[in-house]
Amino acid sequence: MTGARLLGSGSALPKRVVTNAELAEKIDTSDEWIVERTGIRQRYIAGDGETTSSLAIEAARAAIVDAGIDAESIDLIVLATATPDNTFPATATKVQDALGCNGCTAFDVAAVCSGFLYALATADSLLRTGMGKRALVIGAETFSRILDWEDRTTCVLFGDGAGAVVLEAAEGDISSDPAKPGIISSRLHADGAQHDLLYVDGGPSTTQTVGHLRMKGREVFRHAVVNLSSVLHEVLGDAGISADDIDWIVPHQANARILDATARKLGIPPEKVVVTVDRHANTSAASVPLAFDTARRDGRIKPGDLVMFEAMGGGFTWGATLMRI
Ligand code: ACO
Repeated sequence: MTGARLLGSGSALPKRVVTNAELAEKIDTSDEWIVERTGIRQRYIAGDGETTSSLAIEAARAAIVDAGIDAESIDLIVLATATPDNTFPATATKVQDALGCNGCTAFDVAAVCSGFLYALATADSLLRTGMGKRALVIGAETFSRILDWEDRTTCVLFGDGAGAVVLEAAEGDISSDPAKPGIISSRLHADGAQHDLLYVDGGPSTTQTVGHLRMKGREVFRHAVVNLSSVLHEVLGDAGISADDIDWIVPHQANARILDATARKLGIPPEKVVVTVDRHANTSAASVPLAFDTARRDGRIKPGDLVMFEAMGGGFTWGATLMRI
């Protein structure tokens, strides 16, 4: 059964690139350690005037141009972020105002690195109910602002950025033909018992500070591979297809070793995995749409391709979506 189909995508990165060598000048680390353990070579870090909303707006504008639509025709904006501009209002409403589509539905989703998967499934579900015809789905983050720059075990892993897609409800009756373009299946999960493995130690209701990201990396790694391969099998089962039928897997770009291990468990060759973690590092909710837009624009992902998106993050939360482009 296919739901909302893709009309366009876009992405945005801050101006400033920070290489591993640059980080090694300030903290006790090395390019060699970071590349070997994570595959990351550089990340983009937001500077003065660059915020989650400014990156989201730039990515959204690019997606709207790519889709060839007017911003006024958007009925729904769902923005995934763990680093909103402000506690409230939702960053989605800032994007809405900048795009000039005031009046439509606009809200944020908080599922950290899985946020884009949660936003995509939410937008698809709302379009399927007829609540709107066109949706803008965004993942945008400035994780650099919640990092403890003294903690070498976490600060080398993350970067800033944004990615966006424009979706449109399938024409007429929802088709039962998975060869047609559109979202075929989504699965979302969460397990709050794993809170302490990956969290931010601040917030408005607890410390009244923004706080810093804290992570037990080794344990996150172990859970990530298990949870991701399980949710990927669920989505393949929903669609009644095998891993061989997938043209591209667009994973959350946490770490090259997680990408390799997950693809290997699924039996997907590395050539079918979109990897941008070397250039972007982990941009949390932005990473999947950023990687997707990169691979569409460089000509790898083409209309008709069957693409699997997947992500796992703090909470834990995890999910996957299968979409025919
Ligand atoms: N530079 C140099 N040395 C370092 C650094 C660094 N940046 N960070 C840690 N080390 C040292 C440690 O202090 C430790 O030294 P010790 O042996 O003297 O105590 C040694 O390296 C090994 O540390 P570990 O934490 O055991 O290293 P590990 O091999 O597990 O790699 C890493 C760490 C890369 C974080 C890994 O656990 C990982 O990738 N985990 C997944 C976490 C992740 O990707 N999270 C993203 C958010 S969740 C998500 O998106 C899925």
